[in-house]
Amino acid sequence: MKKVLFVTSEAHPLIKTGGLADVSGSLPKALAELSQDVRLIIPKYQALKISGELRYVCSLRVDNKNVKILETRMPGSPVTVWLVDYPGYFNYPGNPYVDELGEPWPNNAERFALFCRTVVEVAMDRVHQDWKPDVVHCNDWQSGLVPALLSLEYDRPSTVFTIHNMAYQGLFPGTTAATLNMPGQLMHPLGLEFHSMLSFIKGGLVYSDYITTVSPTYALEIQTPEFGYGLEGLLDHRKEFLGGIINGIDLDQWNPKTDTLISQNFTESTLSKKQVNKSALQKKMGLPVNGRIPLFGLIGRLVEQKGIDLILDSLPEMLTMPLQFVLLGSGDKAYEKLLEALAQSYPDKIALNIGYNEELAHSIEAGADIFLMPSRFEPCGLNQMYSQRYGTIPIVRKTGGLADTVVDALPHTIADNTATGIIFNEATAGSLLESVKRALLLYSNAEIWIKLQTAGMKKDFSWQQSAQRYLAVYNNL
Ligand code: ADP
Ligand code: GLC
Repeated sequence: MKKVLFVTSEAHPLIKTGGLADVSGSLPKALAELSQDVRLIIPKYQALKISGELRYVCSLRVDNKNVKILETRMPGSPVTVWLVDYPGYFNYPGNPYVDELGEPWPNNAERFALFCRTVVEVAMDRVHQDWKPDVVHCNDWQSGLVPALLSLEYDRPSTVFTIHNMAYQGLFPGTTAATLNMPGQLMHPLGLEFHSMLSFIKGGLVYSDYITTVSPTYALEIQTPEFGYGLEGLLDHRKEFLGGIINGIDLDQWNPKTDTLISQNFTESTLSKKQVNKSALQKKMGLPVNGRIPLFGLIGRLVEQKGIDLILDSLPEMLTMPLQFVLLGSGDKAYEKLLEALAQSYPDKIALNIGYNEELAHSIEAGADIFLMPSRFEPCGLNQMYSQRYGTIPIVRKTGGLADTVVDALPHTIADNTATGIIFNEATAGSLLESVKRALLLYSNAEIWIKLQTAGMKKDFSWQQSAQRYLAVYNNL
């Protein structure tokens, strides 16, 4: 049995901005089911949704500040959660990373450096809990300084760093290193320096014992300039210690058979009941209720990564076709405005919800016929897996985890019942439009459509295999 300290800046259902929260909420549970002793550590943001008891663990002095550790449990699981409590940095409402205008909190470097330093104290059991992890598993740049700082410790635990997204690196002006009292041993171009700046993610990439990312395809992509953002050389250099492990999904939360957030439960043998969810979604979103018109869905952060510009460029032509489109998301204000204008001009075809809405996300997965995910890059992506589980056919671009989890509907894959979606190659509106047309053709053939839906719903997206792979990584350290 391994003792694992899982370090993350978000975890569902405590706090979520994207897929990292889904993974941090479900992978530790899956590891616990494999009899591992996993504890999660996360900042105590004001917006955390804690249910149940909160226990005081200890106080400690970190970088000249008084920090407290509190303890709770992951709702519905035995996993212990340690909260890093420093109100001056974390007791603010809203998003963990950005303010109401979408601008990064000005003291993010200080906030997450303090978090990392506290994690190091816990990892070395200088908090006297009689619990020293074998492995510290860090995730994304917010925890990147942990492997770096631990590398300076005698008798330290092993470290794993998981890249969920290379596009977010935690880059700060070079002078920040002094503000943060970063040890000089770490501050050089082969360490935390990146073009004279301080890079948090490099802490994970340079100093961790093993690096993982969230799909095999993305593991290869980030070793190229297009996806590596200047760190491809470093990743290539460390490729012996780099592997892709595909994310699983939480089968309890995303289960059309038991989902309490949708109008009508269904399974692959009662697929016709999915229609009830479609009508309910059309009604809720103010679209004409029509069982026959293909209903497209999209849920996600409205940022360049997600190919929102491709959608905007495709919409004029898409709107000439018989279809409806439901979109839920928030992000770049420019995208939000353009989408709002289109939704206002075509109220019978486009329904838009700008914001974050868990319940509506489930209703869209259950009610839509087709899910659009034309990402320019996608380390793993979760919605294409949720879609398949809900009999909603994903249209995805061939990149990262999308390429690894969707099987394109081609004559031979339809024939052997492995096809589950539609894949296109080029990040262009033309290529996306082609796949939309392909989807509409397939949709008009009920027999084939049901084949695709059934194959997707039967696919195994559970954490079981991937959790075993993480365990193998821990065991090999
Ligand atoms: P990323 O982590 O890049 O945002 P993923 O596909 O891995 O992309 O995960 C996104 C997660 O966040 C999914 O669970 C998705 O349902 C959820 N999500 C994204 N935007 C919203 C929103 N506006 N409302 C509700 N859930 C959302
Ligand atoms: C990131 C990626 C997404 C991935 C998620 C969880 O936010 O953008 O593709 O699914 O992390 O690993």
